[in-house]
Amino acid sequence: MKIAIDGPAGSGKSTVARKLSQRLGLPYLNTGLVYRAFAYIYREEGLENPILLFENPPLVKILPAETRVFYKGKDISQLLGSEDVGKTASEIASLPAFRERINEFFRSLVGEGQVVAEGRDVGTHIFPDAPVKIFLTASAEERARRRCEQLMAQGIPANYQEVLRAIVERDERDKNRPLYPFRPAEDAIVIDTTSLSPEEVVEKILSLVKERV
Ligand code: C5P
Repeated sequence: MKIAIDGPAGSGKSTVARKLSQRLGLPYLNTGLVYRAFAYIYREEGLENPILLFENPPLVKILPAETRVFYKGKDISQLLGSEDVGKTASEIASLPAFRERINEFFRSLVGEGQVVAEGRDVGTHIFPDAPVKIFLTASAEERARRRCEQLMAQGIPANYQEVLRAIVERDERDKNRPLYPFRPAEDAIVIDTTSLSPEEVVEKILSLVKERV
């Protein structure tokens, strides 16, 4: 069973996908974390072209409730949360050739296996055959509030207005990119999480999963 969970930054997709993968005992693929890992390495190595990253890609391990990324033998998963790395990730994500390559990277990582995969395009382009596709939404203000909470929990100082502006800007860039503009898959079920707890969203998805297996 492949479950694809999509939605904009701060829609709750990471929290919900992680909890869902734990409940179902399925590996969890956080595609945003992998984009961030590529962005981090791109910055660290000072590469000219992000496509060169695929010559020596990071090692990605997918486990229930956990995606971990290793580079040059070091676990870099905890180094990827900053706004700077997120901004670079969003920039390289706007390059069509990079998206093509990273989508292939995700498909070969999972192969025929089961997964709860989360991030942009998972339902539309990465796993278009996934039998369960969920698209989470929430107001921009609520998403900024959640992002600030998340950053502060990681000990990263956060300013609500700046985070809100960054979210709106990133949404625009992601929506307007020429290839793969950001949109729900036609067969995705849309859930507005603005006033729902992660547990309530997980329960909703679990009942959809039961209907489809
Ligand atoms: O999900 P997260 O915010 O950590 O991802 C960082 C950035 O990487 C996103 O803003 C987006 O531009 C890009 N991304 C993407 N497609 C994905 C995952 C992330 O374009 N599947």
